[in-house]
Amino acid sequence: MPTITVQEAQRFIGERVTVQGWLYNRRSSGKIVFLQIRDGTGVLQAVLGAADHPQLFAQADALPRETSLIAHGTIKEDKRSPLGCEMLLESLEVIHQPTADFPIELKEQTPGFLMDHRHLWIRTGRQVPVLRVRDAAFRAFRSFFHERSFVATEAPILTGASVEGTTTLFELDYFGQPAYLSQSGQLYLEATAMALGRVYWIGPAFRAEKSKTRKHVTEFWIAEAEMAFYDHEANLRLQEDLVRSIVTTVVEEKAAELAELGRDTQQLLQSVEGPFARIDYGEVIQLLRSLGHDVSFGDDCGAPEEAALGEHFQRPVFVERFPVEMKPFYMKRDPADPSRVLAADLIAPEGYGEIIGGSQRVDTEEELVRQLNEAGLPTEPYQWYIDLRRYGSVPHAGFGMGLARVIAWITGVQHIREVIPFPRQIHRLYP
Ligand code: 4AD
Ligand code: MG
Repeated sequence: MPTITVQEAQRFIGERVTVQGWLYNRRSSGKIVFLQIRDGTGVLQAVLGAADHPQLFAQADALPRETSLIAHGTIKEDKRSPLGCEMLLESLEVIHQPTADFPIELKEQTPGFLMDHRHLWIRTGRQVPVLRVRDAAFRAFRSFFHERSFVATEAPILTGASVEGTTTLFELDYFGQPAYLSQSGQLYLEATAMALGRVYWIGPAFRAEKSKTRKHVTEFWIAEAEMAFYDHEANLRLQEDLVRSIVTTVVEEKAAELAELGRDTQQLLQSVEGPFARIDYGEVIQLLRSLGHDVSFGDDCGAPEEAALGEHFQRPVFVERFPVEMKPFYMKRDPADPSRVLAADLIAPEGYGEIIGGSQRVDTEEELVRQLNEAGLPTEPYQWYIDLRRYGSVPHAGFGMGLARVIAWITGVQHIREVIPFPRQIHRLYP
């Protein structure tokens, strides 16, 4: 008898098989018992009549939810099931019977309760398909770059200086000197790009964000790329190709999961089909004002403004050329207007907000030192970074993508805490 996964069950119609998993739910009429068995790949219904096997029926009919078990039976076609089949149960081995009632009920529970039980919540409902989509999104990001001969690399997590400003740094004691958890691998990727040409990585990033929005967590996996000899234009073209590739690949690979989540993938695919929109920061402010938003030149876009942009363009939009004061020290200024930087944020439609931040990088020592000074940062911790402009500096550019936000957008999940296995937020360090 082959041991199969639930996902494969349809290929075994008419055969006797073994399935290993957990009892997701149980229904019984007194005459027939239905066991919903989940194994991480899907949920299979196993059916048993009381008349056929009275002893097995009594055992199955008393099992609590989340009992771990091994079920043997024959797979039978069933058009009503989303899987297209079910199992006629023949025998059952209980591996472990829960010692208490499983706390996650299959009905509405408060977000706070669910987050407190995140370690158990992930077994239920839409959590499983969402985490499976997450897996596909990470792989799609890596495949995109691997296929283009970029080199996968890493950046350190323990760092001596800030990248994205000093207000969101987590500080710690590093053998008597201050150190910080990395906010982004960018500066190190710039160094690596000067060694390897084109590089990428996915790694943890930390921001001591005090904001409690549906788009912010304090720890997230940043997906970054850095390219020697790339300018701002080439950077944007690459980002557009990447986002389109991730969305189309994941929608194709995870069609079943997205259907289970009720996601309208038609709308999603349409939004990335054509060229993405591009708009100058100054024009964004004008557009938002004309739409009734109270914003002025120099303001950041908040959630309502980002949502309005998505609504207006109905596709991802690059907001380009921000005022210098709004952005970090490392961005190259626009030679045509040095009050602006050669940077863009990519805003996803449907209110999912900024999914990418990227820029061309400052590439001369003189400009870099001046910009560090203007940002009020000391130059000593950045000597190694300044070195990159002392030895064969080249125009280069790169970007960082918040994969959690991309996954939330693809799945249609409202809050990014639901697309991260164990999210870290300002008031949440457990489980
Ligand atoms: O825009 P950010 O801050 O850019 C950087 O860190 C650059 N150093 C990246 C680079 O050029 N290599 O962050 C990049 C992306 C954002 O666009 C957003 O999607 C995500 O990371 N992000 C967050 N996601 C979840 N929670 C947070 N607190 C986030 N902060 C940024
Ligand atoms: Mg940003």
